[in-house]
Amino acid sequence: MIKPDAVEANNIGPILAMINKAGFKIEAMKYMRLTKAQAGAFYAVHKERPFYGELTEYMSGGPIVAAILSKDNAVADYRQLIGATDPTKAEEGTIRKVFAKSIAANAVHGSDSDENANIESNFFFSHLERF
Ligand code: CMP
Repeated sequence: MIKPDAVEANNIGPILAMINKAGFKIEAMKYMRLTKAQAGAFYAVHKERPFYGELTEYMSGGPIVAAILSKDNAVADYRQLIGATDPTKAEEGTIRKVFAKSIAANAVHGSDSDENANIESNFFFSHLERF
């Protein structure tokens, strides 16, 4: 996902360019705004965390771009491309180092396992929307 802060800052294009350059294929893509309930459902694993309210508020505060990306070793390679959750800890040249504003407004989301990638893909896309 490209998050509301990066969309607001007009960084959809530059972020997609970095994703393409890193060799990912785009299998599905959608530009939409989540309701607070939908953001809450997407991040349900974080329900008990102290930042859950802030996170769902922020993620429903403006449009996002959701995408399914594919590549060999996609989960690990994408996580390397985006960098650490906290942009102050992200490596130089990573998407979050370049574009993230804070640990909450951190420009992009990436699935943390193949299993969660499937769950998150099914959250946003039907089979008719995948190529
Ligand atoms: P993401 O990779 O999308 O997964 C969970 C999100 O919760 C994370 O990126 C951040 O946007 C947010 N998050 C994680 N830790 C914190 C924190 N300490 N304070 C606020 N938001 C956080």
